[in-house]
Amino acid sequence: MTQTLTFLGLESSCDDTAAAIVRQREGEAAEILSSVVFGQTELHSAFGGVVPEIAARAHAEKLDTCVREALAKAGLSLDDLDAIAVTAGPGLIGGVMSGVMCAKGIAAAKGLPLVGVNHLAGHALTPRLTDGVSYPYLMLLVSGGHCQYLIARGPEDFTRLGGTIDDAPGEAFDKTARLLGLPQPGGPSVEAEARLGDERRYRFPRPLLDRPGCDLSFSGLKTALMRQRDKIVAEKNGLTRQDRADLCAGFQAAVRDTLAEKTRRAVALYLDEQPGAPALAVAGGVAANMAIRGALETVCTETGLRFTAPPLALCTDNAAMIAYAGSELLAAGAEDDMTLAARPRWPLDTQAAPLIGHGRKGAKA
Ligand code: KG4
Ligand code: ZN
Repeated sequence: MTQTLTFLGLESSCDDTAAAIVRQREGEAAEILSSVVFGQTELHSAFGGVVPEIAARAHAEKLDTCVREALAKAGLSLDDLDAIAVTAGPGLIGGVMSGVMCAKGIAAAKGLPLVGVNHLAGHALTPRLTDGVSYPYLMLLVSGGHCQYLIARGPEDFTRLGGTIDDAPGEAFDKTARLLGLPQPGGPSVEAEARLGDERRYRFPRPLLDRPGCDLSFSGLKTALMRQRDKIVAEKNGLTRQDRADLCAGFQAAVRDTLAEKTRRAVALYLDEQPGAPALAVAGGVAANMAIRGALETVCTETGLRFTAPPLALCTDNAAMIAYAGSELLAAGAEDDMTLAARPRWPLDTQAAPLIGHGRKGAKA
């Protein structure tokens, strides 16, 4: 008889409260029955970043509603669940604790298996959920809080090839937008301006290209942009629309070229493994950027890799990826009990040296 397992996933590690139901039928692709995300952007907008205390309280308040909505959308009740998967880190500790406590409560009340999931593993396994990508594959996580290259070999088997030593690219887009008076989130508004600009007018640094390896750095780029903006303002007493568009185009080109070159290097390291069906998957909000996406696709074409990017709703924070990662972990025998603890830091590759500390949107490594 084929086995069917229904997972509830919970996510609350940053500023999105999410619950989702994923069903796994043996030998078939997993199916997302529902995925509910309550964002908190408006709660934090006055503060210029995510306020951990406010986030934790909002998660605690919203989790129940979120679970109820996910069950209702899937047409199920708690009695139909077979297991609970929850983000147990890395992230803002108050939020992660809210999710873990909620998951423990449901698991204890219903006598269900509990699986603690690494949030980054959730992102990194998404291409298997959405595109059936087989191990091993190369993964680029690129968002407002994360930026790293990983080789994924199994649900608990990752090698980090490199990552940002300071800001994540999405953070750099957001800061650039702030510096130029464009609306948040910065990524889409900078991309829209860049389309109207000339990327050759201002040339910004391509950080760390002179160093071997796949580590990245984006904080210097933001400073270079600020200097150029101040120079133009001092010379002309302000910025014209064209100046702003050209600054955005120059900035975006620098991020694009840096990510493309570092990806080329990561691909070379990954191909040493001789994967059967070589693939690069990209996830995170910045993967929505068409210029960056195009550059990554070109690298894949040059190097013979399949390129995949999950749909945007599954690239950004969600609980379907946590439920799915939980299903792979449980199948591999990784089950937790009531001692499951929330972890502010939880590197996917425990052998790799730590990269950086906490950023504006939570723990990055
Ligand atoms: O993955 P995500 O929704 O949240 C986390 O950071 O966890 O990513 C959001 C980030 C923001 O910094 C946003 O500015 C950036 O992704 N982003 C973009 C674009 N759309 C969103 N960056 C560049 N170009 C875009 N089109
Ligand atoms: Zn995330």
